[in-house]
Amino acid sequence: MAARRAALQVAVVLLALCAGGIGASPGCRKHVRRVTEYGAVGDGRTLNTAAFARAVADLGRRAGDGGAALVVPEGRWLTGPFNLTSHFTLFLHRGAEILASQDLEDWPLIAPLPSYGRGRDEPGPRYSNFIGGSNLTDVTISGYNGTINGQGQVWWDKFHAKQLDYTRGYLLELLYSRDIIISNVTFVDAPSWNLHPTYCTM
Ligand SMILES: *[C@@H]1O[C@H](CO)[C@@H](O)[C@H](O)[C@H]1NC(C)=O
Ligand SMILES: *[C@@H]1O[C@H](CO)[C@@H](O)[C@H](O)[C@H]1NC(C)=O
Ligand SMILES: *[C@@H]1O[C@H](CO)[C@@H](O)[C@H](O)[C@H]1NC(C)=O
Ligand SMILES: *[C@@H]1O[C@H](CO)[C@@H](O)[C@H](O)[C@H]1NC(C)=O
Repeated sequence: MAARRAALQVAVVLLALCAGGIGASPGCRKHVRRVTEYGAVGDGRTLNTAAFARAVADLGRRAGDGGAALVVPEGRWLTGPFNLTSHFTLFLHRGAEILASQDLEDWPLIAPLPSYGRGRDEPGPRYSNFIGGSNLTDVTISGYNGTINGQGQVWWDKFHAKQLDYTRGYLLELLYSRDIIISNVTFVDAPSWNLHPTYCTM
């Protein structure tokens, strides 16, 4: 329980990030868009799932050409789960908080991990991770100490009351991915674990 509450503060690593082509600053990517350009509203109440999906789909199409960055400005951005794409930076400004929906209807079911063959808490499929990605390369999650908030209490309450039919999602899960940087961002209040990189290589 303590671990869940504790903010996972990832240290700032001052590397020559742009020089390495890695893109910790949105300026390192050729295509830079704010999430508001896809219709998102940062009022903490509007559900922005479709806006995040549109943003990642659009930037995913552009990212092969010099990379792409999605900038999340100051505000509280409520959304259901979304996936990342390659050659991509998710950049959270100071005071930006991405809030996970607490409505389980917003969390689709996904396949279990191949090496588990079932969900971790329950058999069968599992709830989506909040932020996911498979088979990605060159992904950065960074910014000026924004927050990714799983608002996980609802999940923990149901989990302890044995009211969940499926395994909870993680705050961030990356599968079969490489060249990932996570810096200068705070992960809090996950429905289960915070960060779960699996089948990934350096
Ligand atoms: C994210 O990708 C996984 C496959 O890697 C898929 O099962 C899932 O539906 C996707 N989630 C969203 C919200 O698009
Ligand atoms: C990702 O890579 C794994 C391992 O190479 C492969 O089994 C899987 O089909 C790939 N998934 C996608 C969505 O390309
Ligand atoms: C990390 O965030 C701080 C502000 O919280 C900012 O001053 C600094 O430039 C950021 N560093 C990187 C590498 O983004
Ligand atoms: C980053 O944000 C967290 C939580 O909001 C806070 O505890 C921490 O002090 C901040 N770090 C910096 C360097 O601003």
